[in-house]
Amino acid sequence: MTENVKQLTLLSDFKTESPRPLWEQANSLEELTEIITACRRCRLRDGCHQVVCGEGNPKADIMLVGEGPGKAEDEAGRPFVGAAGRLLDNILKAVDLSRSEVFIGNVVKCRPPGNRLPLPDEVKACEPYLRAQLRIIKPKIVICLGALAGKTLVDPSLRVTRDRGQWVDKDGFLIMPTFHPAALLRDPRKKRPVWEDFQSVIKRYDQLKA
Ligand code: URA
Repeated sequence: MTENVKQLTLLSDFKTESPRPLWEQANSLEELTEIITACRRCRLRDGCHQVVCGEGNPKADIMLVGEGPGKAEDEAGRPFVGAAGRLLDNILKAVDLSRSEVFIGNVVKCRPPGNRLPLPDEVKACEPYLRAQLRIIKPKIVICLGALAGKTLVDPSLRVTRDRGQWVDKDGFLIMPTFHPAALLRDPRKKRPVWEDFQSVIKRYDQLKA
């Protein structure tokens, strides 16, 4: 544990002096990553090998948010490195984005057993970390990959089939919900809409950079 995080841990023991949770006090991704890695707020940590916090440009203008690590990610300690990740790499390459330019994260940081969907209490326990990552990285554009990211960051009533492709301006971020790459592997007909959604993202990104 670095000195900064140690001090934050000590401070958090003095509830009256420092009522804010640790993740709200973290000022850098490194500090936050240490806090997330030490987390035991839900049962998922007991069943996974590694905590997958996310990776990429700490000052990215575009952040992509998936669901949670699968088997390959749990083994590698990195997000989107399995079959869905390879497809995501191709999508990024097709729109001339590199992994090092964007930040790639997930709603939950630990692999749910058997790749099941994270349970609502697991999402609730992990969501503050995602919010803290957004606070520190300050992306202008957030791409929600799949229903769970959309429901978490846009609205619990979001339906990805209905709402994908439509920009949402929320909490200071321009949010684009789209299908999860794994859904494209199951149903290639979803490739075109995702392509259109990423085209829309690139158009906005270029406008923001201009
Ligand atoms: N699916 C996700 O949602 N996230 C990953 O990191 C890998 C697969």
